Amino acid sequence: MVNRWRDGRRLPGGDARLSITYITLRLPSPLTPAYNPPFLDLSSTEGPVKRIKAIYPGSFDPPTNGHLDLIERGSKIFDELVVAILRNPEKDPLFSVADRRKMLEAMTSGLDNVSVDTFDGLTVDYALRVEARAILRGIRAISDYEYELQMALMNRKLQPGLETVFMMPAEKYSYLSSRLVREVAQLGGSIECLVPDLVEQKVREKIDVAHKFTNREQSAGKTPSEGKSKSRKKKL
Ligand SMILES: Nc1ncnc2c1ncn2[C@@H]1O[C@H](COP(=O)(O)OP(=O)(O)OP(=O)(O)O)[C@@H](O)[C@H]1O
Ligand SMILES: [Mg+2]
Repeated sequence: MVNRWRDGRRLPGGDARLSITYITLRLPSPLTPAYNPPFLDLSSTEGPVKRIKAIYPGSFDPPTNGHLDLIERGSKIFDELVVAILRNPEKDPLFSVADRRKMLEAMTSGLDNVSVDTFDGLTVDYALRVEARAILRGIRAISDYEYELQMALMNRKLQPGLETVFMMPAEKYSYLSSRLVREVAQLGGSIECLVPDLVEQKVREKIDVAHKFTNREQSAGKTPSEGKSKSRKKKL
């Protein structure tokens, strides 16, 4: 089909389809209303602003890169995150609660909405005391899931208003636990890449002191160097 003026002259630009394309592409912008998608205005000042505070409880003995990974993820979804070290008198820890607190504070110093605290007793009671709405926990593998599910359901029974939020670490940390770090370090293996540098240094210091103590006991009556070399051989 050919487009023509009223007097029969041909319009430049070929057939109707092409003319329509030509016109459509050059429609003046006011004819196509701007697309305004609805959006959530989090900066709204109307009404109370809901800030979600969460606690991340654990023993952190010592804190690992897996813990840090979870703290970083948690700090992105919660307005406030409190890393809460459980003071558990039954456990025989490698580090005192004060030492663990110092390490965690140093590790999280760059995260403005993260703080470190200690607590004892029920986690739900502590959460209520600090007005937290959620408990952050990590799931590494199926083995964690069973225990964590049990804990989460018991905590829900004790305090139905409190939610447990599970997060997964980066794959490279999914096998990592404080217990493994303690064991590897105690047997002389490298814990580099498993914990932050400052924690690695503290663990080494701690284990060296423990070895010296053991060696002294084992090699009573012998020089410290004699005792040391002997116990090293035993470990290898
Ligand atoms: N590598 C990790 N990735 C994800 N979550 C973790 C990791 N390590 C610990 N968590 C989670 O952090 C929380 C506190 O753990 P906790 O302090 O008991 O550490 P842990 O490594 O399990 O220590 P331990 O080996 O002494 O039991 C738990 O929810 C645990 O599942
Ligand atoms: Mg554990």
